[in-house]
Amino acid sequence: MQDAFTTQVIQCDPSSIAFSNDLEAKPEVHSEASIEALSLGARHLVDEGNVVAFPTETVYGLGANALNPTAISRIFSTKGRPSDNPLIVHVSSLSMLKRILPDGYEMSPTYRSLVENFWPGALTLLFPAPPDSTIIPKAVTAGHAAVAIRMPSHPVARALIALSGVPLAAPSANSSGKPSPTRAEHVERDLGGKVPIIIDGGPCDIGVESTVIDGLNPDGNLRVLRPGGVTVEDLEKAVSSLVNVPKVLVHRRDFQDEAMEQAPTTPGMKYRHYSPSVPVTLVMLSSTKGFASFADLIISASVVSDDQRLKIGLLAPSDSLLLKYEVPLNVNVHHFALGPRGDLAANTAGLYDGLLTLEREGVDFIIMEGVAEEREGLAFMNRARKAAGETKYLLR
Ligand code: TXA
Ligand code: MG
Repeated sequence: MQDAFTTQVIQCDPSSIAFSNDLEAKPEVHSEASIEALSLGARHLVDEGNVVAFPTETVYGLGANALNPTAISRIFSTKGRPSDNPLIVHVSSLSMLKRILPDGYEMSPTYRSLVENFWPGALTLLFPAPPDSTIIPKAVTAGHAAVAIRMPSHPVARALIALSGVPLAAPSANSSGKPSPTRAEHVERDLGGKVPIIIDGGPCDIGVESTVIDGLNPDGNLRVLRPGGVTVEDLEKAVSSLVNVPKVLVHRRDFQDEAMEQAPTTPGMKYRHYSPSVPVTLVMLSSTKGFASFADLIISASVVSDDQRLKIGLLAPSDSLLLKYEVPLNVNVHHFALGPRGDLAANTAGLYDGLLTLEREGVDFIIMEGVAEEREGLAFMNRARKAAGETKYLLR
């Protein structure tokens, strides 16, 4: 059953919260309003077993007490999420991490280096789940032997976990299948009436989800199950000085896993993902193949007749080459500018915001320009391919 709520949106200024540079640090909160917002969030999470939407540096999360099975079931019902899709657990300190791992577990040198370099931050690591599912309920891991964990760097997220005193399981705060929210208003539009509170900490910096890594294979290599906020290039650099340098293998680029393809343990494999309610076409500029004109491409991507007025959303850099092409007279282009061409971090930060904003503006369909598949662009293209129903090429 879906609970009904009058959703309260409550502001919490990230700049009012500080952590010292230490993975055991406690938050220092310098504003009454922030203390109030965080305490209210913590009360909902711990006392009521409710879900709370909150900002992280990647996307907004829909959090619940990771130790409470009833609270976890509310995440699934609120999002309409399939129960076989496991959740990431968020911790605020290394001692909190230790409390949910098997007794006597020691991190490998590779994991120690990743934690040192990227926590708190947009890196999720798979750890062995404790055999006793009374610590982490089965619903969190969907029965898998591993549990995915990260320590978020967003001050509001980390302070909310610290104040709650329990780890928070948190998927992105969107209905299953939709683009992830990067602003409080995205969450409100999607989940308003279904969650008691949304903590508004402003827009998310990174704008795509965390990188999910499986480093549990006995070969010692790192398998990137989902590219995300921490780039493969940065991961490679961080582990390059270890005595045994692991390979960083990207799923589908460097390795395949049949069992994994069937199980939904990696986002977007089994279920539809990141799709707004309007059709999306991914456009790649090519020097060898594709449509000769942008107009032909638009006509081929549209579902209406030539003479009907069309409102299309263009999700592309501010100086996109697509802007130089002519469009048919009946076409009105809404351009959502993703920062300058080649600024892959900026392009990626605006990706979900662009999809959700253009959808809200009521465009008939969205044309989204592809970017280079390197650094942040790897996560961009991973999400773009899943959001888009089709990919079309345009001769440059
Ligand atoms: O940046 C993020 O990671 C955001 C913020 C809120 O922290 N969270 C997020 O959660 O993206 P979600 O549920 O939308 O995506 C988590 C993905 C799942 O799709 C799942 O496939 C993978 O992480 N995952 C979770 N637990 C796993 C496990 N035990 N084994 C393998 N993959 C797992
Ligand atoms: Mg998600």
